[in-house]
Amino acid sequence: MNIIVTGGAGFIGSNFIFHMLKKYPDYRIVCLDCLTYAGNLSTLAPVMDNPNFRFVKESITDREAVYKLFEEEHPDMVVNFAAESHVDRSIENPEVFLDTNIKGTAVLMDACRKYGIKRYHQVSTDEVYGDLPLDRPDLFFTEETPIHTSSPYSSSKAGADLLVLAYHRTYGLPVTISRCSNNYGPYHFPEKLIPLMIANALNDKPLPVYGKGENVRDWLYVEDHCKAIDLIIHNGRVGEVYNIGGHNEMKNIDIVKIICKELGKPESLITYVSDRKGHDMRYAIDPTKIHNELGWLPETKFADGIKKTIQWYLDNKEWWKTIISGEYQNYYEKMYANR
Ligand code: NAD
Ligand code: DAU
Repeated sequence: MNIIVTGGAGFIGSNFIFHMLKKYPDYRIVCLDCLTYAGNLSTLAPVMDNPNFRFVKESITDREAVYKLFEEEHPDMVVNFAAESHVDRSIENPEVFLDTNIKGTAVLMDACRKYGIKRYHQVSTDEVYGDLPLDRPDLFFTEETPIHTSSPYSSSKAGADLLVLAYHRTYGLPVTISRCSNNYGPYHFPEKLIPLMIANALNDKPLPVYGKGENVRDWLYVEDHCKAIDLIIHNGRVGEVYNIGGHNEMKNIDIVKIICKELGKPESLITYVSDRKGHDMRYAIDPTKIHNELGWLPETKFADGIKKTIQWYLDNKEWWKTIISGEYQNYYEKMYANR
């Protein structure tokens, strides 16, 4: 099996590559990533010398480069993680989200049509369903929940999902889509809630909580997400959407307090800042379909996963300190200075 994994120098893609190379020693994995601010080649250092792994620095929006790669590799599958992934950045500058998330997806699928493929898998998000009210804990996102997006990011991911389903219906492309809830774990870029709070707390810097901190996210350890995608690409039904989530809803403020406690830092570091525009209130996945059809269940409890994650950031200070000392400083100052 030869699999092109796009966006493999980012958070979830890299964890997926590690999982696949370990579990399937006879598979070839080709990572296609253009190394945006969120892509980090040092993340892939542990597999760079693996003879079954190849890294290619190109953009999924570059049709010529993508077709050339397909001619060289004749992939059996494509798993598309490549995306602009941060909601706050999409609010500041939507355009690149449309290019990468929508156009890039179309280019990849055109290549799949042209050269033939066993499976194209689109890594999508629960954010395409919009949000749920806080006072209706009985409601969850199912695969039938209507698309109802809030941010330029989620709209671009929803646009891509619709294209994927259209390529299946119109051209018969063998596709699957997964829509996962919030991931956490190693190699999570420090702009996102959990790694940002860990890094700031370790540096005794303010912990910026948007609004009242009451927004709820449904957290899943990244390895559990990778295992779910592994099951879908091998055993999932073509043309289907699978929701992935572990019934682990938590308020943002509670996550931040847990991080303070685990690191022995005072809650006085918590600073309430102005809210995100269009901020989704609550995400909550109903994972019944993937459980019933593919037997998937999350394996990591949040209490253990957050400890492992914090320990990883303590053990890998160089990884995130290098990131936050560069261009990220300008981003951080611009985003948080006047909040
Ligand atoms: P990330 O921002 O950490 O990584 C994205 C990667 O894609 C980076 O390596 C970047 O260099 C690469 N990339 C961006 N534009 C590219 C382009 N034009 N061509 C090639 N490579 C490009 O993102 P992540 O958090 O790992 O998310 C991966 C995927 O999973 C995304 O599609 C995202 O929408 C989806 N997702 C994320 C979460 C989450 O909680 N992080 C949850 C559900 C779904
Ligand atoms: O639900 C899946 C989605 O989860 C993915 O599709 C996205 O790619 C991923 O980035 C994530 O989106 P969120 O917007 O939920 O994640 P983020 O880490 O940016 O924020 C989580 C919550 O924390 C959200 O309610 C906003 C809040 N927040 C975030 C930051 C960065 C803060 O209160 N302060 C912060 O500084």
